[in-house]
Amino acid sequence: MAEKRNETGRLAPPRHIAVIMDGNGRWAQKRGLPRTAGHKAGAETFRKIATYCKNIGVKYLTVYAFSTENWSRSEAEVSAIMALLKKYLLEAVDTMERDHIRLHFFGDMTPIAPELRALARETDEITEHLSRDDFQANVCLNYGGRDEIVRAARRFAADCAAGRRKPEELDEAAFSDYLDSRGVPDPDLIIRPSGELRLSNFLLWQCAYAEFYYTDTHWPDFDEAEMDRAIAAYHARDRRFGGVKQP
Ligand code: IPE
Ligand code: IPE
Ligand code: MG
Repeated sequence: MAEKRNETGRLAPPRHIAVIMDGNGRWAQKRGLPRTAGHKAGAETFRKIATYCKNIGVKYLTVYAFSTENWSRSEAEVSAIMALLKKYLLEAVDTMERDHIRLHFFGDMTPIAPELRALARETDEITEHLSRDDFQANVCLNYGGRDEIVRAARRFAADCAAGRRKPEELDEAAFSDYLDSRGVPDPDLIIRPSGELRLSNFLLWQCAYAEFYYTDTHWPDFDEAEMDRAIAAYHARDRRFGGVKQP
């Protein structure tokens, strides 16, 4: 069982939960609203679920906000998502220190608008001042699992070419250090709302031994009770990591 009790005898929540925040568009369409209204509602759900995860003792929450493939959407939809990110980052700059929330980005920030990148740098700086024990939210922006692996490989190759590293030094731990998730333990539980049973290029390296939880609920309707159900399902799993279940 994934069952682990903390000092108080309660089942400890997963240390790292990752969420593919999917279904914003369908949630809006069902209500006769524009897709952007779904993104707005989804952003509020992120705020609510991040607060809940922090309160119940989850250490890391990683969310898929915008994939390397999402640029193929209309310019209006992409701009609306970027505007929402800006709004929440501005708010985060003011509140993360007070609320002890570390914020980190996974993904290639190069094509992101300078204004948003500057804000991300600001939140990175605030995060540096917070304790490593504080709750950490990782936002995947212009993120693709394959892209992350290719960028890591490129950086390692550059280090080899510059004589800083040797190819034979590369092992799984050394490679992990070149990924965007450097220093963050692998997710224990990956949740995908909205009924799709796929990863869509999310955390391909890190998902090796994650437990998966799928639900038909669209992300804007995802709530604390739904998170409790996902965590309960996680606790009922038998994580063997290739070993044999202990009697
Ligand atoms: C997830 O919701 C948000 C992003 C991908 C940015 P979608 O926009 O994919 O919603 P559906 O899947 O179309 O319902
Ligand atoms: C995955 O959702 C990306 C995010 C939630 C940010 P998509 O809606 O882009 O994935 P597909 O197209 O259904 O695979
Ligand atoms: Mg989708």
